[in-house]
Amino acid sequence: MKHKFDIITIFPDYFSPLDLSLIGKARAADLVEISIHDLRDQADGVHKSVDDTPYGGGAGMVMSPEPWGKAIDMVAHDDSVTYDLIVLTPAGKKFDQELASQLLHSENLIFACGRYEGIDHRVTEHYQSRSNFRVHEISIGDYVLNGGEVATLVILEAVIRLIPGVLGNPESLAEESHTLESDGEKIVEYPNYTKPASWRGLEVPEILLSGNHAAIKAFRTEQAIKRSQKRE
Ligand code: 6GU
Repeated sequence: MKHKFDIITIFPDYFSPLDLSLIGKARAADLVEISIHDLRDQADGVHKSVDDTPYGGGAGMVMSPEPWGKAIDMVAHDDSVTYDLIVLTPAGKKFDQELASQLLHSENLIFACGRYEGIDHRVTEHYQSRSNFRVHEISIGDYVLNGGEVATLVILEAVIRLIPGVLGNPESLAEESHTLESDGEKIVEYPNYTKPASWRGLEVPEILLSGNHAAIKAFRTEQAIKRSQKRE
């Protein structure tokens, strides 16, 4: 299956990093297809306005439903396809490694990058009621960003690197932070070291130089558990 990602934004330039590194290579190798759409292309009037003042009053501006409806309908034009619509909002479900793995199963992901005080809520309601849409409101953490663009980059990177063929060395997937477990508890990765063995008076733990694989494994597990406990 070829993953298709559509991004709707008023700042298409935010997504130039998607030409770089592993994601750039995955796109060039046709492992993924990423399209970026300018919301403003769906706005009317000379000012191409995409926002308005909130009903009920309050600070800031709200993104208007009409350009969003047009933009999403344009991207999701095939009624026989199921689309996962991701609405980026600090009020959404917190993104984590498990959610990244779940999104990997979707063939068609659409990212709606809201700005200002967010998108008129009827956009979420409308697509929830459409039978070929699954809507996910997602946040990347408990802090406020100016819009969903950076959050989309975060989610894309976490999902795309899980696609078979994207990482050069798939074994690194199994061993890395947030996928390790001990007694069913998630633990983060052990600390890593490389040459030189001595640096600014600090030595690499001797056991890692011993060649004793069982002892190294036990040491790393112990270090990872210590690190995980300190994080909480
Ligand atoms: Cl998805 N959007 C915004 N605006 N702020 C956030 C966020 C998303 N996730 C965390 N903070």
